[in-house]
Amino acid sequence: GPLEEVSLPLYFGWFLLSSIQDKIKCTSMDFLKTLDTLEAFKKHLIDFSGKAEEVDLEQYFQPTGILHCTTKFCNYGKAEGAKEYAEKQAVKDSYGSIFNLSLGALFVTPRTFGARVSLTEEQLQLWPADADAEKQVESVPAAASLPLGSRAHVTLGCAEGVEPVQTGIDLLEILTLQQEGQQGEQVEEMELGTLTYYGTGKWLLNLREPISAPACFSSFYG
Ligand code: A2P
Repeated sequence: GPLEEVSLPLYFGWFLLSSIQDKIKCTSMDFLKTLDTLEAFKKHLIDFSGKAEEVDLEQYFQPTGILHCTTKFCNYGKAEGAKEYAEKQAVKDSYGSIFNLSLGALFVTPRTFGARVSLTEEQLQLWPADADAEKQVESVPAAASLPLGSRAHVTLGCAEGVEPVQTGIDLLEILTLQQEGQQGEQVEEMELGTLTYYGTGKWLLNLREPISAPACFSSFYG
């Protein structure tokens, strides 16, 4: 019946607890504030505005709601593999449990702003089995050879008109470049860590101290 049809959520994921949300929002805003004052960033401004004009990154990225790391996008059951995922034993067993996510890097592109999540073996149990198929992002063909869970991230903001699904794709693009041996251009030692430029507006800040973020594994219906 109709109830069954809506019994699958929009997505499953880890939802960051509110205390750490505030901390991450502060840290990430500080990072943006510093980034757009750096000479190295100004040199590549054209990637962001199409012009060599200054951008206010804090305004450029719009917040996207409650901070979370999506595991499986189900689209209320319409996404491939949604039902199988919801029925996984690990998913049922962990539903409502708290995990500690490790946020190891922040990244910025002209489209999205996100944090990379490094999943533990235990957390990878909740990563969808069809993630390989999911990784076959048309725009990033080489992503198929990245380790499972590479896409794991928290979306921190999106440029106007950009959907949050783009954040994971942008992360895969950066990781693909790294895997292909692109060192990037190490531009700055910041207080938070090392900032690297990967070309065409792609910036990655490797955090000196990964942020440990308590998060509840649950789902979102919208
Ligand atoms: P993300 O995980 O990068 O934040 P929306 O509001 O656009 O429906 O998306 C809801 C959530 O599901 C967002 O967190 C979003 O991106 C994620 N998402 C949306 N579409 C997909 C998709 N096709 N594959 C994986 N995740 C998706």
